[in-house]
Amino acid sequence: MRNLVNIFEMSPRDGLQNEKKFISTDEKVFLIDQLSQCGFNKIETSSFVSHKWVPQLADAAEVFSKINRNKNTKYTALTPNERGFNDALNANVDEVAIFTAASETFCKKNTNCDIETSLKRFIPITEKASKLNIPVRGYISCVTHCPYENFVNPKIVGQIAKDLFKMGCYEISLGDTTGKGTPDQTLEVVKECLKYLSADKLAGHFHDTYQNALDNINVCLENGIKTFDASVGGLGGCPYSPGAKGNVATEKVNKLLLSKGYETNLDRDRLKECSVIAQKLILN
Ligand code: HMG
Ligand code: MG
Repeated sequence: MRNLVNIFEMSPRDGLQNEKKFISTDEKVFLIDQLSQCGFNKIETSSFVSHKWVPQLADAAEVFSKINRNKNTKYTALTPNERGFNDALNANVDEVAIFTAASETFCKKNTNCDIETSLKRFIPITEKASKLNIPVRGYISCVTHCPYENFVNPKIVGQIAKDLFKMGCYEISLGDTTGKGTPDQTLEVVKECLKYLSADKLAGHFHDTYQNALDNINVCLENGIKTFDASVGGLGGCPYSPGAKGNVATEKVNKLLLSKGYETNLDRDRLKECSVIAQKLILN
């Protein structure tokens, strides 16, 4: 379908990872099972990261073992290193994501290493994934701003996008981690990435801290990008980006896309129900 835009649902992972109170495995599974009825192609289900760094997602393997999988949905997870990748394989994930940043300080705070080392850590993951036919997605955080270094040079983002693609990522998701990115800055970043990759290899990942997300999505759409990450209820935040709010709400992105004549294949009523479930999870 020419007019199809994909919304990659993030709430079980990006939405919940920063919650201080532990949300039970059964509650997470309930949310994911409800999301599975909405029509998403992909749901980022959890992360196989250090339990000390992100205690909320320490139950990733159990979550994967308990969800009722919809055959039309791929259930994905973040894997920061080879250990996480092996654990993800054992949990039967459909796809993994590796993640780095365009800011050295954020990379260090988030994964305890510099950007170059983070990329080296991914090589065994992408090599093994390619042999096993497991798709690998790449994230770049802080594409316009870093919570510690402020402005980020778009040229660095373009270089990392190129590196991740060369390494075997089928798509690079551009993360506005702080939500400070303006449409002009987003355009610069997108143009830089388009020097090396076509628009169908790029995705937008906007946190909606300052309500810039929809304008930034519009810039991406105008440049041919057709995949956007979002969380029902606007849940989320990154533990290593103080003050940053959640991903842009899935229902907001869906409404925008439909109003512009795009198709998303999502069930609006079920999305609303999931948004309520997600909000309740973090209120309790
Ligand atoms: P480290 O401390 O440098 O690594 O962490 P280490 O190898 O020294 O290991 C430390 C401990 O973690 C050891 O345990 C390891 O066994 C264990 P100990 O001996 O102390 O008991 N460990 C693991 N345990 C489970 N699964 C693993 C794993 N690896 C090591 N895979 C590491 C390095 C990368 C592991 C750590 O920094 C980490 O897990 N970071 C993840 C941080 C994170 O998940 N951040 C949020 C996701 S990124 C994000 O939200 C941004 C995004 O949404 C886009 C955007 O918005 O910008 C994607
Ligand atoms: Mg994020």
